[in-house]
Amino acid sequence: MAKIITVSSYKGGVGKTTIITAAAEILASRGYHSLIIDLDSNCTVSRCYNKLFQDITSKNLLSETVTDFKGVYPAKEYIDIIPSCLENHLLNNIMDMQLKINLQKTGLKEKYDYILIDPPGHWCAHTRNAVFASDVLILPGTCSSLDFSAIKLYFDILQNCCIEADTYVCINKANSKTNEPGIIEKYNAAFGDFLIPGSIPDIKSLKRLTENVNYPLQQAVKNRLEQYIDFFIKGDTSCLN
Ligand SMILES: Nc1ncnc2c1ncn2[C@@H]1O[C@H](COP(=O)(O)OP(=O)(O)OP(=O)(O)O)[C@@H](O)[C@H]1O
Ligand SMILES: [Mg+2]
Repeated sequence: MAKIITVSSYKGGVGKTTIITAAAEILASRGYHSLIIDLDSNCTVSRCYNKLFQDITSKNLLSETVTDFKGVYPAKEYIDIIPSCLENHLLNNIMDMQLKINLQKTGLKEKYDYILIDPPGHWCAHTRNAVFASDVLILPGTCSSLDFSAIKLYFDILQNCCIEADTYVCINKANSKTNEPGIIEKYNAAFGDFLIPGSIPDIKSLKRLTENVNYPLQQAVKNRLEQYIDFFIKGDTSCLN
């Protein structure tokens, strides 16, 4: 039975797609089979794996009547993807639990070790579907007050929704030279045990996510994410430093 992990935010550009893609690659290198579901109509992760403009997409997976779903495409060894499409942006009248129901109904939940969901960077029907389908939610924030406030607002909304997923905040793009002064302390004070210890460093030269699926994730980012993955597999904070 797959563990379902969503990386979500209230604000764009915080590293959701980077983290999801890196997690899939790291899990694959350890022999775990992942399914990435792209729910973002910007299709960034679909583009990473050269899966733009497919006939069947995550929009079909959100249909009330889906049973035999044919929109899973191999991305690389141990990684499959359900790509997104521009039309996802127009789909509003979906029940918040539809994805959770359909992952069961289609048998996809049983088929994989991990299902990794990349929703849009704002609160909408697709994001709610991802949140309500998930076992684990990761909320990345960066080192500015605006991002901090956005993640706090989002975290509070999620707490009020009484979601079942284990929720964690993580700091991405941390750079001791450019971080807003005191921002890490603010994260610690606001999120306490919900904050994953050890931030992901800002790697200025990290290549933009493009068509090239084998983009070189800088070693520092990858090392940190390897630790996060250990944490999520073993649930043990001793692997974080
Ligand atoms: N740790 C990092 N260091 C430097 N750059 C990073 C880091 N993490 C992500 N980036 C860069 O930041 C940009 C945004 O990252 P990404 O696309 O993963 O964010 P996102 O939250 O998925 O954005 P969107 O809301 O648009 O989907 C990308 O160019 C990515 O390469
Ligand atoms: Mg993205």
